[in-house]
Amino acid sequence: LYLCSIFICSCSLAFTNFSITQIIIFCNGCNGQAEPSQAYEKDLSTIDEAMIPIDLMQSHDEFINAVKSRLTKLEMMRHVFDQNGIKGAIAAVAKLPDNAVQADVVSTLKRKLDLFSLDIFLSFLPVLAGLLTSKAERHAIVSLELLLDLIKIFGPVIRSTLSAHSAVGVDIQAEQRLQRCSRCFNHLQKIQQVLHPLIMRGGQSAQLAQELNLSLHDLVVI
Ligand SMILES: *[C@@H]1O[C@H](CO)[C@@H](O)[C@H](O)[C@H]1NC(C)=O
Repeated sequence: LYLCSIFICSCSLAFTNFSITQIIIFCNGCNGQAEPSQAYEKDLSTIDEAMIPIDLMQSHDEFINAVKSRLTKLEMMRHVFDQNGIKGAIAAVAKLPDNAVQADVVSTLKRKLDLFSLDIFLSFLPVLAGLLTSKAERHAIVSLELLLDLIKIFGPVIRSTLSAHSAVGVDIQAEQRLQRCSRCFNHLQKIQQVLHPLIMRGGQSAQLAQELNLSLHDLVVI
């Protein structure tokens, strides 16, 4: 168990790169229930071996506290989601200044795409944009993945609505849709501008950023 603690606190060096599920899987691994994933092994190999045990114990406590705090926030999010649905959860997570928890929520919502409407997509864009500029690659990756999924769903309606010009005028619903689409479009253009540093950084996030750049490029009405 002591060895397990050392391994866990070693992980804290790269804590922001892990999702809470990965941490739990890892902790189970320490108890002999599962093998640590390759990702951990890779990260463990980068640990400074000269680090003294006193530092380890201190960072272990910090790590445990960080995990506890993250778990509390996630439980709060789950409660808000159950009480107020996806709209309430998105409003709450947008106010939470914690990229790790935001990324956890994003990866959960990736499995609930059917709950999204254009309106909800629009309200989630600031959170997704914020994660793209996080230092942790996992945050950018989950955001890019969800953005790619949502563009596949809402891209066509945004594109066709914006290209329909002002043919309607009196239809309030169509007017609202036009407003939503153009606000989405403006947000997405800002997102496109922050993709360049991600593409330069390389790795998995670069690949996804490139993909997103292309699909956003396709949105532009010629
Ligand atoms: C995004 O895609 C467009 C069109 O292919 C390309 O011209 C542009 O250089 C790309 N942007 C980045 C940051 O790679």
